[in-house]
Order: sequence, then structure tokens, then C-alpha cells
Amino acid sequence: MKTNGMEIADRSPESGGGLILSPDALRPARGLDRAGAGTDDAIMANPTGSALSHLECTHCGRTHDAEELHRLCPDCQKVLHPRYDLARVRLEPADLAAREPSMWRYREVLPVRDAEHVISLGEGFTPLLTAPRLGAALDVADLRIKDEGQNPTGSFKARGMSAAVSRARELGATAVAAPSAGNAGGALAAYAARAGMTAGVVMPEDCPRINQVEAVLAGADTWLVEGLIDDAGRLVATSAAGRGWFDLSTLKEPYRVEGKKTLGYELAEQLGWELPDVVIYPTGGGTGLVGMWKAFAEMTELGWIGAERPRMVVVQAAGCAPIVRAHDEGQRHAQRWPDAATGASGLRVPAAVGDYMILDAVRASGGTALSVTEDEMRAATGEMARVEGVHPAPEGAATLAALHRLRASGEVSGADRVVLFNTGAGQKYPDFAPADPPRLPADSPAWRDGL
Ligand SMILES: Cc1ncc(COP(=O)(O)O)c(C=O)c1O
Ligand SMILES: [Zn+2]
Repeated sequence: MKTNGMEIADRSPESGGGLILSPDALRPARGLDRAGAGTDDAIMANPTGSALSHLECTHCGRTHDAEELHRLCPDCQKVLHPRYDLARVRLEPADLAAREPSMWRYREVLPVRDAEHVISLGEGFTPLLTAPRLGAALDVADLRIKDEGQNPTGSFKARGMSAAVSRARELGATAVAAPSAGNAGGALAAYAARAGMTAGVVMPEDCPRINQVEAVLAGADTWLVEGLIDDAGRLVATSAAGRGWFDLSTLKEPYRVEGKKTLGYELAEQLGWELPDVVIYPTGGGTGLVGMWKAFAEMTELGWIGAERPRMVVVQAAGCAPIVRAHDEGQRHAQRWPDAATGASGLRVPAAVGDYMILDAVRASGGTALSVTEDEMRAATGEMARVEGVHPAPEGAATLAALHRLRASGEVSGADRVVLFNTGAGQKYPDFAPADPPRLPADSPAWRDGL
């Protein structure tokens, strides 16, 4: 849809969530499929105009050189955020209509300086679908689904990996690696392949089979570990030096969050530079939520939106809910969740390095955190597919399950404008929700007699 040789100009809310093709739509898109670069030079100038200025520690506030490869803050081992000289950004919201339908439309506020280093498979600018029938069922007048399942490699992990692999390459890395609950591994492998870089992926042995297949087929050195994502993280960290890997563990390097923050830019753009009242986000490491929160602050500074913020809602699985527990207990840091277990593999993250950033954003926004059961996620998978035609990943289904609870408790009202984040394609999890059609022999009399 997005890279089929046509330029898609607008996915505005006025279109009812559908697509509006501009008069330019019949003109062949320029670039977008040039290996190693996201766009044609005619669209994306070389340099990109990135206003990246430095890295800033989210904990101790010290600043660091953005032209060097960094991971955590060298002083306090907390998360580093890229900062931009936003006063220098000449981009106006109106300019965006003519740009390519990918997250690189926001290139001035992304970290890559030279378009030659933009590694793109067409990620981002996914539809913000209206969900009128689901809204009616839940008595929510304005309900939408941000359908991240339509990204390359079938999940929103594509955004973070596009940004991080691009910037790592620009800063001279030739090999990258990451621990992954599943989808990030597949995405990393694909972007590294696109970049001509070597990749290493370490995942829990029981992560979805498709994630193993996509990592292996994209040529990543792939290992399955008898443990969880934090065990995988330790293995990547200890092997990185020997293998020459730059470790792209989420929030342990500064740029995956930059890709994820484009979720926030898109939300505003697709809603006509307004934000919804409630954002429901399935939280593992929390990079998407932290990224959106950062995007909102940047857009306010740019003068693109006002000071209003959505209530940010964290959803986790009942079998792994460290952030929910910390939220309930009034803590700023979460304890590791022992024996984490859930079929929503992306939510099986027992400890998040950015826990304080997630919890700060939830509290500052007046939001909340809650967990849902496996049965609720399974039921919501079927409901979203049946009612709106969107087959969600279990993590995406968790947001609908959460909305049911929040409507029942009254924490979300029927007048709230609500956005659910379906972070991945349900097709990647074919065995999560029951789907067992009856079998008939080809010569069954039922065919003749009417089924
Ligand atoms: C489909 C899906 N949804 C949600 C998540 C959680 O994402 P985050 O780490 O940004 O909280 C993941 C992480 O693997 C995922 O694959
Ligand atoms: Zn620091």
C-alpha cells in the first residue's frame, strides 16, 4: 500500500480513517525503493536537515557528544535522549503533505544527518483507523486503532530499528546486535540486511517461531536462549566486544526511541495537530510510550501542538506486570517480575531499563496502568478481528481488553477520544487465539444438502 509505486498524500481523520490520494497519487513515487536509502535525493535532501544537537542523560542531565557512538550515560548508566536544536527546524506541518508516507517525513527531528545512511523499508505512517463498530460496542464515540501491524516485518519494532540501524551505520558501526522478545529481532535482522551490516539476535527459546524464521532468513546470527529477554540481554552484552557488535538493546542506546517517537508525531498529524484524550499502549520495555511522550514535548516546543496531553495508559499481561505493580505501589522503579509468562511475547519483559521514564509519563499525564489476562487478550483478538477486520497481535488485543476494563470502571468515559495501539500483526501469532473451522471431506453430503 505504501510503497507500491504510488504516492499517498493523506491519511487524515476526515477521510474516516481511509486513504485520500492526492492529485499527485498517479505520479510514480520517486525513490522509496532504492536500496540503502529511504528516499530519492529529490525528496530527501542530502543532508537531511536533522537538527540533532547532543545527547542528554534523562537521569543526571549531563550532556554527551551525539557524533560518537554511545549507549547508556557513561556517568550514571541511565537512558540518554537525543536533543535537537528545535529553533533551527524550518519544517512546518503544512510541508508534510508533500512528503513520503514513512516515518522519515519527520527527518528534521530524527537523528540521521546524511540521507545516504537512511535505512528504510517504508516503515511508519501507518493508518489511524476509525473503529466505529467497536466504539459503539464499548460506548466510546471516538475510538481509533493505530495499526502498526502494517509496518515492514509486521510490527512497530521496524520504526526503532530503522532509526537505530541508520544512525549506527552513520556513526561507523558495521555490526549490530540486540536481545529481543521476538519482533525486535526480526526487525533488526531485516534492517541490518538492508544496510549490508552484520547482525546478531538473541531471543528466548520459546519466542514465536516466525520471529526465529525472520531473523535467520534475513541472515542474522541467531541464538535461542533458555531464559527470558534479560538473560538474552546479558549474553549480547558479554559477547558484543568479541564479535564487534554495537549493542542496540532498547533504551540502552539513544536512537531506537527516536524511531518510536514518530508514533507521537503521526498521531498528531493524523488528528489534525490535536492529540486524543486517552492513549492505550501495550508496554514491555516501554520504548513506544516513552518515545511518544518525548514527541509531544518536542511538538509543543515546535509550536505544532499545545500543552494538552493524552492520559497515557500502560497495559501489561497479568503474567508479567512489573510496571503495573510499581505504579500501584507508588514506586518510580519496578522490581523484576519473577517467572514472567504470557503469550503476548512482546510483553514478556520482566525488567525495563526505562521504568522510571514510563512511570513518570503515566503519572504526569494523569493516566494509569493495568494488566489483563490471557483469556481477555484471546477474546479481544477475536473481537477486534470480527468487529473491525483488524487482526491484532496479542499485545494489541491487550489494549482492547484494557479498554473494556476502563469503561467498566468509568476511568474512560464515552466522550473520551481513545486510541488503541495495535503494535503488531496478528498473522505473526497464528496460534494465539482459537480458530478451528470444521473439516469436511470433499465428498461430504453436507455440500449438497446445504451446510
Ligand atoms: C507486538 C509488540 N507489542 C508491544 C511490545 C512492547 O514494546 P515496548 O518495548 O515499546 O514496550 C513489543 C515488544 O517486543 C511487541 O513486539
Ligand atoms: Zn547520567
